Amino acid sequence: MTSRPAPLDEAERLTREELTALQLDRLRATLRHAYANVELYRRKFDAAGVRPEDCRSLADLARFPFTTKADLRETYPYGMFAVPMSEVRRLHASSGTTGRPTVVGYTDHDLSVWADVVARSIRAAGGRPGHKVHVSYGYGLFTGGLGAHYGAERAGCTVIPASGGMTARQVQLIRDFRPEIIMVTPSYMLTLLDEFEKQGVDPRETSLEIGIFGAEPWTEEMRREIEERAGIHAVDIYGLSEVMGPGVAQECVETKDGLHVWEDHFYPEVVDPLTDAVLPDGEEGEVVFTSLTKEALPVIRYRTRDLSRLLPGTARPAFRRMRKVTGRCDDMIILRGVNVFPTQIEEIVLRTPGVAPHFQIRLTSRGRMDHLTVAVEARPGAGPEQRAAAARAVAQGVKDGVGVSVEVEIVEPETLERSLGKLRRVKDLRG
Ligand code: DLL
Repeated sequence: MTSRPAPLDEAERLTREELTALQLDRLRATLRHAYANVELYRRKFDAAGVRPEDCRSLADLARFPFTTKADLRETYPYGMFAVPMSEVRRLHASSGTTGRPTVVGYTDHDLSVWADVVARSIRAAGGRPGHKVHVSYGYGLFTGGLGAHYGAERAGCTVIPASGGMTARQVQLIRDFRPEIIMVTPSYMLTLLDEFEKQGVDPRETSLEIGIFGAEPWTEEMRREIEERAGIHAVDIYGLSEVMGPGVAQECVETKDGLHVWEDHFYPEVVDPLTDAVLPDGEEGEVVFTSLTKEALPVIRYRTRDLSRLLPGTARPAFRRMRKVTGRCDDMIILRGVNVFPTQIEEIVLRTPGVAPHFQIRLTSRGRMDHLTVAVEARPGAGPEQRAAAARAVAQGVKDGVGVSVEVEIVEPETLERSLGKLRRVKDLRG
């Protein structure tokens, strides 16, 4: 893989002071745009007694009300758009688990900014003009496929728009078209790796050098698993449709130390999910984003439900980093008073010998007690003793690391549901 440093764009060369000044200008313009053109913002700002002109410093943003997914649902489909429909060039939507989808829109300029931030993300991951990028994020209303697609084109790469599904064919395409980069969810990457092995191909022998993985939480253990099995660099990309799509934040390949937030377009805050107070950098809480340049759908203090913390910039010094997202407030299982995240289970399963990185968390009730079972696939060839030892090791790991007792069921290889995109780890079977 290339060891040439990434060519930096203009914003990546700003000092922190220059960036802060740019953010304040853009924030004030965004607040004015939202207040002038979106009734819901006007109502909310008025109710909170704030006007766009009250924002004189970045810290003043804390005086403005939050926006939530419920606001987008309430105004479904277009109520929060800030430009006439004739200027909206594209729609995307995210289905969520319940209720109406949330619909998001983009002007020409929004689409161009989006392509720019994804292109910047690809360069940070080590991508260079001339690389071929295999995109296995789903194309369609989901932002993953088209977001990655236009960013890769903007980066001067050749795009292979594979979309999700048809796993055997994906593997064939990778073998034949020889991409250097793959963009896909980490869980679907595991499905692809299994398919390589099934076809008798060592994934380390393919042309792939870099994987840009996101759209769902994944752990350092998963990074190691993928890097070792595929012989590639695995880096993290983050984003959400309400804020833009993929490319809100990206991990740099040279440091792999969390995701630089592209703060010239997305202003991050971290708040206490219970008290709503803004937390100082370094403290863990819910990530909140304010868009700084969006025209069609400006978002003011959007509550992501994602848990992380802000850290100082490293490979891109002006941009703060987000630590890898450990989970969402709504992914959290509260089991007998203890908070459990699927990523904690992932960490333990992936470091246990004898089991594959495929697992499922089942939540059931027995009497009035909630009960959690972790079903994990045995590695092919793992005998009864190794399976029993693995079951004990996972249960003990969860007891020691998370603080709850769970039942561990080791199941036959290739029996658990495979990811075709975003994987839901938790099956809630409580009546
Ligand atoms: O998942 C956008 C995306 C596509 C990001 C491709 C990266 C790659 P939504 O469908 O709106 O958008 O889902 C957004 O997915 O709030 C997080 O909970 C989760 N998520 C996205 N990226 C990461 C990541 C896309 N790198 C929701 N780590 C977000 C952890 C992630 N969770």
